[in-house]
Amino acid sequence: MKRIMLVFGTRPEAIKMCPLVKELKKRNCFKVIVCVTGQHRQMLTPVLNTFGVVPDYDLSIMKDGQTLFDITTSILEKIKPVLETVIPDICLVHGDTSTTFATALACFYLRIPVGHVEAGLRTYNIESPYPEEFNRQAVGIISKFNFAPTEMAREHLQKEGKNPESIFVTGNTVIDAMQHTVVEDYHHPELSWAADSRMIFITAHRRENLGQPMHNMFRAIRRVLEEHKDVKAIYPIHMNPTVRKAAKEELDGCDRIHIIEPLDVFDCHNFEARCFLCLTDSGGIQEECPSYGKPVLVMRDTTERPEGVAAGTLKLVGTSEKSIYYWFTRLLDNEEDYKKMAHATNPYGDGHSCERIADILEKRI
Ligand code: UD1
Ligand code: UDP
Repeated sequence: MKRIMLVFGTRPEAIKMCPLVKELKKRNCFKVIVCVTGQHRQMLTPVLNTFGVVPDYDLSIMKDGQTLFDITTSILEKIKPVLETVIPDICLVHGDTSTTFATALACFYLRIPVGHVEAGLRTYNIESPYPEEFNRQAVGIISKFNFAPTEMAREHLQKEGKNPESIFVTGNTVIDAMQHTVVEDYHHPELSWAADSRMIFITAHRRENLGQPMHNMFRAIRRVLEEHKDVKAIYPIHMNPTVRKAAKEELDGCDRIHIIEPLDVFDCHNFEARCFLCLTDSGGIQEECPSYGKPVLVMRDTTERPEGVAAGTLKLVGTSEKSIYYWFTRLLDNEEDYKKMAHATNPYGDGHSCERIADILEKRI
């Protein structure tokens, strides 16, 4: 039986890989081995529990305030014996995190073939997102199978000279994950708190935004909330202590925003589906909110998800206080502008990506 190993370590990788673990396990032709690096701990475990995925290996590498050196070196060191024991026929990694990069590198050193899920996303700006753009491009050099979510991602890989036969447009597995999360009969105390208002959903965590850009975001958000008495914001805050410190400094005492602990993915999708609009620097949320017809103000200078911008539901607003304040106010005050962005669109898949990936693996390995 062919051995397929899946390695992931952060919350978004888990959300997008767990449905694939389940699909591969349904097929009788594979031995499926799951290794988590534990790059995230508190934010990873609930996702595994929600999907009922029990890892075979857990490298438990997370430490507070970890640097890119810490993550990369710990993974390289700890994954080597696992790969040497399992000797997978293929190792699947996801997206663009340091877990993804370090695992692909370890596989390359051990001559184990790599399959890249969510391959081909690009900004072509190595500084943004940082270090993710590098991670994706580097994994793209190593990978033997490239599961691209969209045609645009395929084009990137082809232009870079990847063998066309190694590229498969499958859609994004996050859409598979979303099939069962949003329910009509959903209640949450935070949603009850915001029920008398337009609810804004906020997340922020990117490494390149730590420092001044993040302070800019929070200042702009605070000003807009203070000027709009019919608006409340819910912000499930990332566990990164640097993010928490900036949020406390800028948003403390603002009673129109509730900063809460990270939400379970089930709750998160239900919040997204019920918000008025979303402000974020997240990658995954740019793929999810458009499906619910929710406009997203992307607080970044670049995006590797231009499909959502082209569809009109994402607006790249940068990280200056002035620009975020302007666009946030404009969408709240101008119904026409809001309506132009608020339509359901889903350029990222039809919910069957995992089946396609599993079919390809069945045929090709
Ligand atoms: C990582 C990924 C980023 C992805 C993000 C998803 C890299 C370099 N970055 O960024 O691409 O978008 O995950 O959220 O791979 N922490 C906890 N508990 C957790 C998770 C994090 O305490 O469950 C704290 C720790 O102090 C940790 C810090 O957050 O050191 C930063 O975590 P890290 O994985 O290094 O970076 P992220 O910003 O989460
Ligand atoms: N998410 C979650 N709980 C939260 C915030 C986000 O489950 O409190 C989910 C969200 O639905 C999306 C993913 O986490 O699927 C995005 O993760 P994140 O923004 O941390 O990383 P990125 O996508 O930017 O790499």
